[in-house]
Amino acid sequence: MSQAVSADGASAGAAGASAGADVRVEHAGRRYGSVDALRDANLHVAPGEFLAVTGRSGSGKSTLLNLIGGLEEPTCGRILIDGREIWREPRAPRHRRELVGFVFQQHHLLINLTAQANVEVALIGAGMHRRERRERALGLLEEVGLADRADHEPAELSGGERQRVAIARALANEPRLLLADEPTGAVDSITSQRVLDLLSEIRQRRGMTVIVVSYDPQVGARADRMVTVTDGVLTQPETDLSAAPSA
Ligand SMILES: Nc1ncnc2c1ncn2[C@@H]1O[C@H](COP(=O)(O)OP(=O)(O)O)[C@@H](O)[C@H]1O
Ligand SMILES: [Mg+2]
Repeated sequence: MSQAVSADGASAGAAGASAGADVRVEHAGRRYGSVDALRDANLHVAPGEFLAVTGRSGSGKSTLLNLIGGLEEPTCGRILIDGREIWREPRAPRHRRELVGFVFQQHHLLINLTAQANVEVALIGAGMHRRERRERALGLLEEVGLADRADHEPAELSGGERQRVAIARALANEPRLLLADEPTGAVDSITSQRVLDLLSEIRQRRGMTVIVVSYDPQVGARADRMVTVTDGVLTQPETDLSAAPSA
């Protein structure tokens, strides 16, 4: 399965980067008090697949993404990453650090740090010397087309540029699973297209699994597949194309 996807994802293997993670959501639900944020969700996202999740505000999209990324526990059912319930393991925090990259609607950049320093922060603890961190951070900014803004602070960047920095930061640990929750929610529509294009390019280049949540159904144009969440119920198109995009 991963081979088919690598072939689709261009030079996924060449970068030495991680192939994508395999994600399974089995009868998963999440309840907050009396609110069923998500009910009996079932989903398989194949390694290297780009999945779009759409649906209205309050429908349960973030809940689904947070369960997949291990930020929340399901109240029923289970989440399997590469076939294992890793979010229930004692090493869950470590798995999260090593496996997942998150991009949120608000960029969550540190306002007093330059773009480069914001990316470097994500590399602290990776056992690198400062110089190596700097070089890697710069390389990541280059990958998102922002090398020339490396020494700018968030206030000196546009909304789209800030999201690019946030994406570079999310790539710092070479995640095999990139989760983006409304990454284009705070930017205009042209900028939004560019951010989605960038995520799509990154997926092609790195072969990671990408799940993007957006209320904007346009996100579906970039994705291999789109699922919808309506009032806590996940629905998928009739044909499940998750197995292999093409030969
Ligand atoms: N921490 C929480 N406590 C209580 N209710 C929550 C919490 N998180 C989400 N909800 C509720 O769960 C439902 C789904 O929320 P969410 O997954 O954030 O939707 P979406 O991302 O589609 O806007 C909403 O009714 C929301 O109010
Ligand atoms: Mg949300």
